[in-house]
Amino acid sequence: MVPLVALGVLLFSCTTTAQNTTGLTLEISVASGTRNKTAPYLHGLFFEDINHSGDGGLYAELIRNRAFQGSDVTIGGSSNIKGSHIVASENPLVPWGPTLTGWRAIGSARLSLDVLNPLSTALPTVMRVDIPVDATGEVGILNEGWWGMDIQPQEYTASFYIKPAQAVYSKSLTHITTSLRSNATGEIWAAEEIRVDGPTLSTLEYTQFRSTLFPAKAAPDSDNTFAVTFNASEVAGNSFFVSLVSLFPPTYKDRPNGLRKDLAEVLAEIRPKFLRFPGGNNLEGLTIQTRWQWKKNIGPLTERPGRPGDWSYYNTDGLGYLEFLEWCEDMEIEPLLSVYAGYSLDITNISPANTVPQESMQPYITEALEQLEYAMGSTETKWGALRASHGHPSPFQIRFVEIGNEDFFSSSYYWRFPLFYSALKAVYPNVTFIATQATESSPSGINTAIPAGNMWDMHHYETPQFFKDNFNYFDNWQNASGYGDGVQIFVGEYSVLSRDRPGGVDWSNGVGRFAYPTMVAAIGEAIYGLAMERNPHVVQLSSYAPLLQNFNAYQWTPNFIAFTADTKDTVRSTSYYWQKMFSWYKGTETLPVRNSEGGFDPVWWHAAIDAEETGTLAAGRVYVKLINADTTPHAITLNLDVKVSTVNGTILTNEDEYAFNYRNNATAISPKTFTLDESVIGNGGKQVTYELPGLAIVVLELK
Ligand code: AHR
Repeated sequence: MVPLVALGVLLFSCTTTAQNTTGLTLEISVASGTRNKTAPYLHGLFFEDINHSGDGGLYAELIRNRAFQGSDVTIGGSSNIKGSHIVASENPLVPWGPTLTGWRAIGSARLSLDVLNPLSTALPTVMRVDIPVDATGEVGILNEGWWGMDIQPQEYTASFYIKPAQAVYSKSLTHITTSLRSNATGEIWAAEEIRVDGPTLSTLEYTQFRSTLFPAKAAPDSDNTFAVTFNASEVAGNSFFVSLVSLFPPTYKDRPNGLRKDLAEVLAEIRPKFLRFPGGNNLEGLTIQTRWQWKKNIGPLTERPGRPGDWSYYNTDGLGYLEFLEWCEDMEIEPLLSVYAGYSLDITNISPANTVPQESMQPYITEALEQLEYAMGSTETKWGALRASHGHPSPFQIRFVEIGNEDFFSSSYYWRFPLFYSALKAVYPNVTFIATQATESSPSGINTAIPAGNMWDMHHYETPQFFKDNFNYFDNWQNASGYGDGVQIFVGEYSVLSRDRPGGVDWSNGVGRFAYPTMVAAIGEAIYGLAMERNPHVVQLSSYAPLLQNFNAYQWTPNFIAFTADTKDTVRSTSYYWQKMFSWYKGTETLPVRNSEGGFDPVWWHAAIDAEETGTLAAGRVYVKLINADTTPHAITLNLDVKVSTVNGTILTNEDEYAFNYRNNATAISPKTFTLDESVIGNGGKQVTYELPGLAIVVLELK
């Protein structure tokens, strides 16, 4: 949302060594030399609900606006008013107020919102469906989904709550029909009649109905809807209240209320090691009151009110705290939980932002302590018992807890961080805590004391050149920063946001800013990836941001993965692909590499070994990562102190630096594997020659 830490970066940036004008020869020590353990959790995921990444994205719920919780708004500026404010809202009277967005009437039914017949305290607004006395045929409601619905021959689980509006209604209702249908042609893909005993249907409280639909075949596209219908002959002249209409396809690892399977599998494919959640700005809230509150997003969906998200749309919070923890469990990755730290954005963008006063901070610290107990406490504890009552008796383990988000915008973090840190560390001594402001990123130069054993989360949305210029940034960071060896770095958000241009990164949505990650973006980020990999004592964790983008509605570009309701539309970006290569071929130990000819720029490199695979130092797989930022190929010679018999490789390349993957051409730039001819191996097996193509990211695997 905001420009980043450039100030501090300048302090420690180092220029790289002289240009490699001739060849490049690297001496790689496998049998000798000092190795370092690679960072075990280096590549991970950062998720927040932005770009409809959660609602309308990874959260598998297919019904849009299922409980009329709140509307989208557009936040913008006006020429004569300082800051940002709401310039348009779906609900014309109440910004963030309920709407019927996503819903349509079938037949002559009339739809409206009702606030006098709440489904629950959390879900006070319901839909009223009036069926005129002269109605005939099929009447009911239809939901358009999140810009469509993907229909496959698989089981869909539907549910909804309904209550007749009149104490005395015709009571002749014998069945309600649920169906999946084409929006374009009306063709029914699957339908089920739910038997209803009209006379016994309560008029005092809501009745929940469930239904299972199994289409016989896949729909040709995702222009499909979900309908709940009546036969007018049974209900003409009656009205009904309806709420929490839900429809789920099979989910990732079959979790109820879980993740969209295909998207979760795309995430799992890069073999991430952790998940940072729930934000980002979306943790902080546009105000203190609308921050992400864990106690309001756990338990039954009827008890989750949702909240106005930070990214212009209402969040249902169906993907809540427990669902995030279960996501980690199912993907076998570490949760990296960000807790609210008493600092919110200010919707008007007028300083000062919303900071909880020091004397009022204790409830927020208690909230964080209880949040950790909900995840990690035994069932003997108050909050652990609540977790068990929500279906997860076994405790989770959380290794990493981040305190706040981007608090380098605040001038109060220097006192807020220690308050949270000391309280949380006292109860959870084995947790690594992550600060979101370091001295070098402080706007006021006020020191945030980060105790040894903990981390700083730094964010970088930059140009390719920035990442090249800062290749050496981490090499001496611990000394240069003054934090010393005990403090490490989490690069919690980073991406190449714009092309190189005078003046640096282009935050506007003009031509400079990338709509999608390009080849040159991948090269810039991957160079930074090498900088991280070769400093495992400094950089422990990293994650690209933002993670997901619904092509139909988004607030930020570029993004890691883009998608629509149609599972065939998913696009893995160039950024996704280089990180997949680096994550797969990280190795367990770094290898010493010396350049005996040539230097960094335009080629960058790093080497590591999977030593644990064989248990012997010299016999593992050696990974040599090479990046060529130049458009012309470069001759590379690798000299090793062990014999090599085969050289396989994976390459990500494209001759157009501004090319990107897009729908219908989603794998235009994707990793290709190759095997080098044995003629490239010389000097008795100890030398490998390779012509590194222009604009390429390569991992050579030597065995
Ligand atoms: O990734 C998008 C936003 O960028 C995050 O919410 C915020 O932390 C950063 O400013």
